[in-house]
Amino acid sequence: MCGIVGYVGHKKALPILMKGLKRLEYRGYDSAGIALLTEAGLLVAKSAGKIARLEEAIAGINADDCNHGIAHTRWATHGEPTELNAHPHIDNNNEIALVHNGIIENYRTLKEFLIRQGYEIRTDTDTEILVHLIRFHYHGDLTEAVRNALNQVEGTYGIAVISSMHPGLLIASRMGSPLVIGDGDGENLVASDVSAMLEHTNRVVYMEDGEIATVTADSFDITTIQNVKITPTVEEVTWTLDEIEKAGYDHFMQKEIHEQPTTLRNAVRGRLNFEDGIPRLDGLNLQYDELRQIERIIITGCGTSWHAASIGEYLIEELARVPVEVEYASEFRYRSPIVDKKTILLAVSQSGETADTLAAMREARNRGATVLGLVNVVGSTIARESDGGVYIHAGPEIGVASTKAFTSQVMVLTLIATLLGRMRHLSVQQGRELIQSIEKIPYQVESILQGEDRIARIATDYYKSGNCLYLGRGINFPTALEGALKLKEISYIHAEGYPAAEMKHGPIALIDENMPVVVIALKDPVHDKVMSNIAEVRARNGRVVAIASEGDTEIADHVNEVIYIPKTNRLLTPLLAIIPLQILAYHIAVMRGCNVDQPRNLAKSVTVE
Ligand code: G6P
Repeated sequence: MCGIVGYVGHKKALPILMKGLKRLEYRGYDSAGIALLTEAGLLVAKSAGKIARLEEAIAGINADDCNHGIAHTRWATHGEPTELNAHPHIDNNNEIALVHNGIIENYRTLKEFLIRQGYEIRTDTDTEILVHLIRFHYHGDLTEAVRNALNQVEGTYGIAVISSMHPGLLIASRMGSPLVIGDGDGENLVASDVSAMLEHTNRVVYMEDGEIATVTADSFDITTIQNVKITPTVEEVTWTLDEIEKAGYDHFMQKEIHEQPTTLRNAVRGRLNFEDGIPRLDGLNLQYDELRQIERIIITGCGTSWHAASIGEYLIEELARVPVEVEYASEFRYRSPIVDKKTILLAVSQSGETADTLAAMREARNRGATVLGLVNVVGSTIARESDGGVYIHAGPEIGVASTKAFTSQVMVLTLIATLLGRMRHLSVQQGRELIQSIEKIPYQVESILQGEDRIARIATDYYKSGNCLYLGRGINFPTALEGALKLKEISYIHAEGYPAAEMKHGPIALIDENMPVVVIALKDPVHDKVMSNIAEVRARNGRVVAIASEGDTEIADHVNEVIYIPKTNRLLTPLLAIIPLQILAYHIAVMRGCNVDQPRNLAKSVTVE
């Protein structure tokens, strides 16, 4: 979603801001802009479309002396993604520039007020209103003007403001939209995401809602919008620059697919206890007797995280016999959910910033639930607002289509389910066997990745399809949903996931020779039933790609293509079955010439509801 980067220091601001914007590209955007503070005043450039077009727009400018500015990638909400609507927005005197993530909900009322005061509104955005409001409140102190303006605002924001009247000063504030201050050496940055500042510093301050930062090259002071002074906590980010670069792969998504053996090892590192078969998850902040008292778990999330949550439901119910409900975070608080003190709400989120997931979590807390987070980004809002939780340690995920975060989420959910199971009826031996199987998973993922060329070859037969169906049963029904999501997100082929047996209640009407069907058909208790579903597809000339268990040679006679995965505990099979589906989607999208890492209209981190 929208990205912010701001710089004040002793270096040339333009290349730093442009590089920062490129680091934020993965979040998804449709226009971009920059404002630099020069001796002649504010210099603003904006463009619709990709950052490359902004680079063309600024090609001729000389900003060598400029070491102060803000920049933005916009994902349109109010007003089309045009050059005019792109940020930064400027006040009528061309003296104050503002970039904004989020939505100003009362902008219509404020707009009418400002028009009455004589301000000229030039764009369709809610953001422009805010820059005029800051101007309205400006009487010589920029921080005060921002504070007074924000006190009139309803909605969400992460903002950065500069002014030609205050060289060397950068004001930042957040409410519901992430913002980080980078503590550099004789330079400071603000950004919506640490990846935009990692080249300059790994010392960061995560801003809290309702805080305003007054930033110069040498200092930053934080106050609340009620003007209470805050002592900032500087934290060190462990992510490295290598992790946010492609490392020789064609796309971040491909790199991230290949990182999975490593990221899965990181997800379980220090957490596997082979002796007593009880995973160690100290971050949950729950004692064994508290774990035993849990009567109900709600797992919530969006997109891929929701699919991981759905696999978590199978895992926890089967291993621990605790009732689990999986809720779309966006639906949760609008349907009066039944939540009490004995309920655990587990929020699953790669970014830790998804607005719907955060809102669901806050609603559950208000109703008395203990709230846990299963998050990748350290220091993110969900991580900070949870009572406890588990980091998945997948490292930065840049590809918009989630891959390594998904498998790490499922892995950590497996650990949680095993832990809860061991607190109840699972024996030491059952716990140990699960942990031994878990330990083998990264090696098994490696062996599947070695088959990438063959899967790419299969993709050549299917990449021209207009539709695709994904079928799975039991714990691999959500895997089928995730496989379908991967394909549709990045290749724009319409794809749906279904429980295999449901096919005959609708989707079977679509089956013909042009409708490929990807079936997860592993050797498990429902294998024969799934084979019957495959026969139903084949009888209607449908083409079948099967994900099958190693050793199942018989299946090859009944399908068009087989991709084998190694044998493991049935409950761990999603961790393996999803890998070929990720690879298939990736190669199909590449063959279709799609922008794999930044699919159209999608955002990596969705910070608006
Ligand atoms: C967006 C992304 C998805 C992601 C979802 C939830 O839609 O494009 O890849 O699964 O948000 O994000 P989260 O960060 O909460 O896991």
